[in-house]
Amino acid sequence: MSKKLFIKTWGCQMNVYDSARMADVLAPLGYRPVDEPDGADMVILNTCHIREKASEKVFSELGRLRQLKDVKAEVGDGRMILAVAGCVAQAEGEEIVARAPFVDMVFGPQTYHTLPEMVAKASRKAGSVLNTDFPVESKFDFLPDESASQGVSAFLAVQEGCDKFCTFCVVPYTRGAEFSRPGAQIVAEARRLVAGGTREINLLGQNVNAWHGEGPDGTTWGLGRLVRELADIDGLERIRYTTSHPRDMEDDLIRAHAEVPQLMPYLHLPVQAGSDRVLAAMNRKHTADDYRRIVDRLRAAKPDLALSGDFIVGFPGESDADFAATLRLVTDVGYAQAYSFKYSARPGTPAALEHGQLPEDVKDARLAALQQLLNAQQQAFNQSFVGRTVPVLFDRVGKRAGQLLGKSPYLQSVHADANERLLGRIVEVRVDAAHPNSLAGSVATGEYRSSATGTQPVEATV
Ligand code: 5AD
Ligand code: SF4
Repeated sequence: MSKKLFIKTWGCQMNVYDSARMADVLAPLGYRPVDEPDGADMVILNTCHIREKASEKVFSELGRLRQLKDVKAEVGDGRMILAVAGCVAQAEGEEIVARAPFVDMVFGPQTYHTLPEMVAKASRKAGSVLNTDFPVESKFDFLPDESASQGVSAFLAVQEGCDKFCTFCVVPYTRGAEFSRPGAQIVAEARRLVAGGTREINLLGQNVNAWHGEGPDGTTWGLGRLVRELADIDGLERIRYTTSHPRDMEDDLIRAHAEVPQLMPYLHLPVQAGSDRVLAAMNRKHTADDYRRIVDRLRAAKPDLALSGDFIVGFPGESDADFAATLRLVTDVGYAQAYSFKYSARPGTPAALEHGQLPEDVKDARLAALQQLLNAQQQAFNQSFVGRTVPVLFDRVGKRAGQLLGKSPYLQSVHADANERLLGRIVEVRVDAAHPNSLAGSVATGEYRSSATGTQPVEATV
């Protein structure tokens, strides 16, 4: 009999990918995903620990779910297995078990392939099953093949964990040491996705450009080589990768941007700060000028490449002059889009213990100034598309009838009136208006499908 599974996902794209894979592992046990937690047989909270208030959010969600669990038991509808997964589970597993003993399973990101055993254990006994191991075997060798198509645009995890140990970051502790999946396994997963209708693959990793895997020929591949191999898959039209570290931006990967048409001209390359003093304190292992030089090399290889970034303001000890250096770097580089955060002291990370933690109002003011600059850059970037024609991969129907939504090569959301049969296809769209977070356009005459040999008209549209 089919059992109802509800998964709530917070945080990064890796968590979105992991949630889909957890559903895959649970499918043979009869669990089918549902959209609401009410009456579910299993609820999994897939959590994020990267910034503040993460665990408080989890505990308040657990409070609500406990009521649903009680109601289900009271009406004789069986037991709701309540689970906490992800990085909060990894970092604060014991505290969750102590504070919320009604939770049945608490497990970290490296254990998802063992879910069937954990469910069996949790079903047999009262109390919580806690599993925050870093098993010696790789979960990727034990996860089943994807059970459902991910759609037009799919995530594919190629790398997990991080060895960089930026002093503000929990990832090396919650996700563990850097691990790269073997090339053949990734190519096989990509082929299955494309056979299921995927046209765009976003390669995922906490430090994705550090990926190094064994190729089927026994040699070691870097990410540039992997991208070239994936580009040979018929029907795969777009390749992206995220998130990258400047130190791992190898020449071959930069060259791939020039040489592989399927590799999109858009790169998320976080720098975090523009002051060398702060970068050193963050243990980023590069200077602001190193970063500028990498951007120059990327743009020399691919002149229309656009950048996205992550920034932290108010790192311990950050002075006004340090912050001004961040604004200067942003001005020099010019971002199409970016994420910016106030520094948040994470328990167990070295920066949390540093003197010179800054008051909230200083962080607030710096964040506002930085966001004003980044928003202006994003707005100008979007505005520069008005009147131009861009290839859009339509991947969803819009809110309004007759409208489709898709992505430009630069990951801008584009909406246009278009026939539903254009879903899953790359279509030339003339941009009529730019909004802060999206573009509005109309389908240009003639539909175009990009291919390795260039852009070819296919047929008339709309
Ligand atoms: N405080 C604020 N922002 C953080 N990030 C990671 N850790 C912290 C922290 N302790 C941000 C970084 C990273 C992004 C995913 O989250 O900018 O690139
Ligand atoms: Fe965290 Fe990224 Fe630094 Fe790794 S490289 S420690 S994931 S911020």
